[in-house]
Amino acid sequence: MAIVLARTIAELRQQVQAQRTAGKRIGFVPTMGYLHEGHAALIRLAAQECEYVVTSDFVNPTQFAPTEDFERYPRDLQRDLQVAEQAGSHVLFAPSVEEMYPEGFATTVSIRGITEKFEGAFRPTHFDGVVTVVSKLFNIVQPDRAYFGQKDYQQLLVIRQLVRDLNFPIEVVMVPTVREPDGLALSSRNVYLSAEERQKALSLYRALQAGQSVILQGERRRSVIEARMQEVLSAVPELRIDYAAAALAETLEQPEAFSPGARVVLLVAARLPSARLIDNLLVQVPNP
Ligand code: PAF
Repeated sequence: MAIVLARTIAELRQQVQAQRTAGKRIGFVPTMGYLHEGHAALIRLAAQECEYVVTSDFVNPTQFAPTEDFERYPRDLQRDLQVAEQAGSHVLFAPSVEEMYPEGFATTVSIRGITEKFEGAFRPTHFDGVVTVVSKLFNIVQPDRAYFGQKDYQQLLVIRQLVRDLNFPIEVVMVPTVREPDGLALSSRNVYLSAEERQKALSLYRALQAGQSVILQGERRRSVIEARMQEVLSAVPELRIDYAAAALAETLEQPEAFSPGARVVLLVAARLPSARLIDNLLVQVPNP
């Protein structure tokens, strides 16, 4: 069956309600559009696990600072419809900004703690925008399961906190990052990169791999692991490093040393002239 395009909240609710009444499990993939293979992986998993899949396609202005790339963020609704349909989505929800934030809109959902470091430290208003729009989308779609990419690892933890704190009856599923054959994590923002910058962007994944190898070789001191990642990133002078950090995967806490068996997330963010990029890797500290 052809994918349905829903432009309003009422249309989307009508579509989903009919499926819920028919007893179908609702899977939800929130996106900002310009869908790539990483989004397709989220949709495919949702389609495997749920009988009805909603994909949202909304470039959310409230998660961009005034200096960021909201205006030039890539958009291509026709292509998104094709990618979403091929991956198994039944409906694409693509509301206008006015539909989501009508005149008089005045609510912000805000989470303390986990939002304050890493991305939150460099983009102070970002997570309020994400958490507010995701709360709205969860209320609009009312899915059973929602699928988020590991690529935005901190965002995933923030959403898990939201679901716990506000009692959304939704299971949050993490889907591993999809990479190009050379390791570059797929991102809609990769389209900003020149061929030369794209080569330089590879050092993010290389830094993560270098951090991973020192951990697997037995290093547990955070400062040494982070210094190794910094060293790889610093080899590219055009890269401005926002952070290269190791943290506990469940909480993002940063002890001086990690215990054997701990699950660690390595996180990097860096800016090239045309784009700011983030990436991460999960590593388990070996037992002695
Ligand atoms: O990860 C994204 O694409 C966005 O932050 C999200 C979750 C769709 C909210 O706008």
